[in-house]
Amino acid sequence: MIRKYQRGNTQIYWGDALEVLSHEITDHSVDLVFADPPYNIGKDFSGFPDRWESEEAYAEWCYSWLDLCIRKLKSSGTLYVMCSTQSMPYLDFFLRKRLHILSRIIWSYDSSGVQAKNYFGSLYEPVLHCVKDRRSYTFNSEDILVEAKTGATRKLIDYRKRTPQPYNTQKVPGNVWYFPRVRYRMSEYENHPSQKPEKLMERIIRASSNPGDTVLDPFSGTFTTCAVGQRLERRTIGVELQEEYIRIGLRRLGILTELNGEPARKPHKVSAIKISSSQMSLFEND
Ligand SMILES: C[S@@+](CC[C@H](N)C(=O)[O-])C[C@H]1O[C@@H](n2cnc3c(N)ncnc32)[C@H](O)[C@@H]1O
Repeated sequence: MIRKYQRGNTQIYWGDALEVLSHEITDHSVDLVFADPPYNIGKDFSGFPDRWESEEAYAEWCYSWLDLCIRKLKSSGTLYVMCSTQSMPYLDFFLRKRLHILSRIIWSYDSSGVQAKNYFGSLYEPVLHCVKDRRSYTFNSEDILVEAKTGATRKLIDYRKRTPQPYNTQKVPGNVWYFPRVRYRMSEYENHPSQKPEKLMERIIRASSNPGDTVLDPFSGTFTTCAVGQRLERRTIGVELQEEYIRIGLRRLGILTELNGEPARKPHKVSAIKISSSQMSLFEND
């Protein structure tokens, strides 16, 4: 079963990504695909078991939707795909035979929650940036410039030039990106175990699409891609399997305020607990 919701240039499909890609999306119609599938690491996506019987079975599943995504892309199209560090080699080998991999990006973040004691804990997620045609693709470098510390902060002069010149104050980001993960206290927070930050999506969408372009996210979760794409005046198509997350998307994208009789509300957040001075002294005496 597939259900479709639409408002203006924003579309949501409620259904299996393989089904939707096979039957609902026109071939060669998409400018940018951002795919952030389940990682096969046992997260709980509202009851969806994020576990396949083997790494190979997971890889085979990924190959089937990746093939479809490639088919949906225009000849000038771009695909970004994320997955776990341990699965990325499977996807990398598969994609390098079908597309041009331009960058192997690391999204790094800090976390006081990841505290492996017997090895180096994982504090990054890999992202592949691939294009169909390396001579013709969108890359809006001017729209994603970041501060170049040598020029902007340290204000150094490059004396190697014939006429010494200050270093540039801005640059195109390299392939290690630091963005904080979405925290409970952040206004963009939704109740989902692997929501991606809007800042991450903004860089990808600005760099690899233009206003009016079509952006497709086959595993939308909280619909971050569509929310950012909508704000940046892209046409967006989001696909998601779970009702709870469809409800988030319908609200976040301004399409509906309820689904199947249940209101689509922002999660109610518990505010900081105030501790009285007598309670504090209990900790101090500990
Ligand atoms: C890693 S999360 C995506 C998070 C998203 N990028 C965000 O910012 O919220 C993967 C999502 O894929 C959904 N999913 C799992 N299997 C699916 C399928 N076959 N078709 C569509 N969505 C699926 C899960 O419910 C989950 O919400």
